[in-house]
Amino acid sequence: MTHPSTVILGTGSYAPERVLTNDDLAHMVDTSDEWIRSRSGIRERRIAAPNEATSDMGVQAARRALEDAGLKATDIDLLIVATVTPDLPMPACACFIQQKLGVPNNSACFDLNAACSGYVYALDTACAMLTSGRYRKALVIGVEKLSGVIDWQDRTTCVLFGDGAGATVIGLSDKPGLGLLGTRLGTAGDGADLLYISHGGSRSPSTPESIAARDHCIRMKGKEVFKLAVRGMDEAARDILEQHQIRADQISLVIPHQANLRIIEAISQYLELPMERFFVNVDRYGNTSAASIPIALDEARRSGRIKPGDLTLLVAFGAGLTYGSALIRW
Ligand code: ACO
Repeated sequence: MTHPSTVILGTGSYAPERVLTNDDLAHMVDTSDEWIRSRSGIRERRIAAPNEATSDMGVQAARRALEDAGLKATDIDLLIVATVTPDLPMPACACFIQQKLGVPNNSACFDLNAACSGYVYALDTACAMLTSGRYRKALVIGVEKLSGVIDWQDRTTCVLFGDGAGATVIGLSDKPGLGLLGTRLGTAGDGADLLYISHGGSRSPSTPESIAARDHCIRMKGKEVFKLAVRGMDEAARDILEQHQIRADQISLVIPHQANLRIIEAISQYLELPMERFFVNVDRYGNTSAASIPIALDEARRSGRIKPGDLTLLVAFGAGLTYGSALIRW
């Protein structure tokens, strides 16, 4: 599917102030800086303040993206928030962000849950809605407060995740061949039991016992997820390149989901593209799920790693299991 005329007009990101280092974690659970760095590449992550909700972080990133695009909140008529950690189960986080930013009432605002692939799914959704001709300017936000759903006593997960937000403003362009060239989304629902939160939904509502057992927190079969993440991201990347008859070496920068440095290194080997062509910030933020790609995209743009004419490949993988890729010409 091609969207020849949807372009990214601005990007922004936000990371909460508090830094939690690997050494800090080593005081909380039986782990070490050496173990975390060698297995995941993560050195530190950001943790939102107790009174800082997902929407608060999303608003900060969105303001920066709007400023970068030279637009106002009143210019937006479509707001999509990719998150698995909304402020409340209902209403959508997008409604709080709409209100705080001042996005007009006659705009479409909703959340989308595709876990760590959420931003790529939301980008595809926004571009399809824009190219339908029924919307003009979209704000696409990936934001998570994962610290609220982490079991801080489980060393196999608590060392991996962090909080943050990334936002992009998307609009239409009359220059064909620029912007989002295409996407490739996928889902392997048979892997839904590899990465999940077991309680707090309709199947198993939270009870005092489930909360005491921390069953409202993320559980993961890390080794299986690792293997499938490499396979899914490699497939999503290869498929989109083939669809568009583009060689991997024509990609100036790959912006992969930032879950684990070893996963990114494996993709680099599979695609036969050197690590210099991959944007990496997992060392500073850990895995921020739906926020990871838009934060990385913003940092890549602001640090001059994306230039006019460049081809960028986004590639994501997450709970579901979901995966996806997107090809962008700047
Ligand atoms: N500190 C010290 N030891 C630990 C820790 C820790 N934090 N966590 C686990 N260990 C121990 C284990 O208990 C195990 O000990 P054992 O051999 O005595 O049983 C040993 O270290 C090895 O554990 P493994 O799970 O085999 O370690 P592995 O090399 O597979 O790395 C990791 C684990 C980092 C979780 C890896 O599997 C991984 O990155 N998986 C993918 C995770 C991921 O990316 N998830 C999210 C993707 S989708 C999304 O973003 C939502």
